[in-house]
Amino acid sequence: MAGRLQVTLLQLVWGTVLLQLAYAQCNRATFGSDSFVCVCSGSSCDYMSDAQRPNDPSYFTIVSTDRDNARLGVDSGLLSPTQNTNGVIINVDLSVRYQTMIGFGGAFTDSTGINVAKLSAETQESLLRSYFAPEGIRYSLCRVPIAGSDFSTRPYSYDDVPGDVNLDNFALAEEDYLYKLPFMKRALELVSGTSDLKFFGSPWAPPAWMKTNGMANGSGSLLPEMWGPYSNYFVKFISAYQNEGVPIWGVTTQNEPMTGFYDWPWNTCAWTAEDQRDWIKTNLGPAFVNAGYDDVKIMVLDHNREFLPDYPAAILTDPETYKYVDGIAVHWYSDNNDYPDRLTSTHDLFPDKFLLYTESCNGLAKDGNGNNQFGSWQHAQDYVVNILDDVTHYSTGWVDWNMVLDMQGGPSWVSNFVDSPIIVNAAEDTFYKQPMFYAMGHFSRFVLPGDVAVRRWISDESKIRVATFLQSDNTVVVVLINMAEENVSISLQPNPAVDMYANMEIPPKSLHTLLFAI
Ligand SMILES: *[C@@H]1O[C@H](CO)[C@@H](O)[C@H](O)[C@H]1NC(C)=O
Ligand SMILES: *[C@@H]1O[C@H](CO)[C@@H](O)[C@H](O)[C@H]1NC(C)=O
Repeated sequence: MAGRLQVTLLQLVWGTVLLQLAYAQCNRATFGSDSFVCVCSGSSCDYMSDAQRPNDPSYFTIVSTDRDNARLGVDSGLLSPTQNTNGVIINVDLSVRYQTMIGFGGAFTDSTGINVAKLSAETQESLLRSYFAPEGIRYSLCRVPIAGSDFSTRPYSYDDVPGDVNLDNFALAEEDYLYKLPFMKRALELVSGTSDLKFFGSPWAPPAWMKTNGMANGSGSLLPEMWGPYSNYFVKFISAYQNEGVPIWGVTTQNEPMTGFYDWPWNTCAWTAEDQRDWIKTNLGPAFVNAGYDDVKIMVLDHNREFLPDYPAAILTDPETYKYVDGIAVHWYSDNNDYPDRLTSTHDLFPDKFLLYTESCNGLAKDGNGNNQFGSWQHAQDYVVNILDDVTHYSTGWVDWNMVLDMQGGPSWVSNFVDSPIIVNAAEDTFYKQPMFYAMGHFSRFVLPGDVAVRRWISDESKIRVATFLQSDNTVVVVLINMAEENVSISLQPNPAVDMYANMEIPPKSLHTLLFAI
């Protein structure tokens, strides 16, 4: 176990103060990529020290992670009365307020739970604390597949008895009882009293017998006569989870509906926007009202930015459907951080419906021999740049895909292996916290449900990206990244009413969350 390390990460340009950045213990391991992982076991793990904003507005708190050293290291800095005009200038404009944040988190897939369950009870607890506890990164919004997904070991639904239109055989699966509900309940206990944790469900496919092709996967849609039974299937899912002590805050109507128009390898269902519009209006919305679930959020799309604004617009232009729909769910695949204006135009068309990123993940980084290269800083930077882009274009949060995968990037019944912020090494009863984990923490730990995104101005976005938020106690939260291989000096004014500036050299390939009292 490494000792407590002290490094000088930041040097204030103004004055003579040299900041000592202390960071929590990380037991480093490298796998040939550009950065490292922190290895945790049941007896040791690098939890975060407390990080509050200082009450004295002359100081700020800064939490830092970088490619070469720090992992959520906490320090403080001093504001200067002089603006450093040679660097990148960032101004926070508190007078322009955008969306209210809903949360950040990941998904309780079957694969997540299968990997957690392979660990000893003590190591399981370290892992769940890392994501949910006050000393962890405090995830606040998590997704759960309604039955199976590609990150299951088999395709299944909650009623695989053909023709059972009354859903007499509806039942949660073994996977729910072994791999989802126990860990979701523990997560609720870990956040209890400190913060909020919401869950939303997403189906990958209806029961196969409800589909035109009779298969969970492939190309097919919901049979018209199944519109009613499938709405009841959603109601029964919500009710079954609530009965188990896991409240469901919302649902998306279908994961990635456009994949169902192709011969897709894993669970899916094709939905045109027009069919979604009519099904929500005539079946799903009324079924939720009748069941007393009218406060359960209904989110549409749950697919890529490229389908904005047309797909949700076709659904929401119907005034009856509009009443039932609460939000628009978006995935990052295919956006390459291009055309974020589609988020803005969707918001402008339907300002009362929230936008929320509900799934993103990286493929595995591999070396020349096909071995997985854990510890990628590039993957963390990819997350952060996308999150900053989305939350500065009305997204109310960002939900990662699998929270935990194995050394192969699975399991997945269709061998769709990908990367994840936490990787389990079951043979050693340990897990690896990758740079992506800390990247998520820079948002989830500090940008809280109810915080409001505020306008910021930045003089040059070629190296530095930034998003700014205002909390109800007048804390300004700033998340910024230096994407460059060089030091970049910045001068940040957190409060337009006060001529005080945070002047800093931001190290290469580094990520920071700053907390200011205003
Ligand atoms: C769908 O899943 C079945 C196994 O349940 C598999 O045999 C088939 O190849 C899959 N279809 C596609 C298009 O991959
Ligand atoms: C960044 O600045 C630090 C401290 O001034 C210096 O030691 C380091 O070499 C610089 N790094 C680069 C990549 O220029």
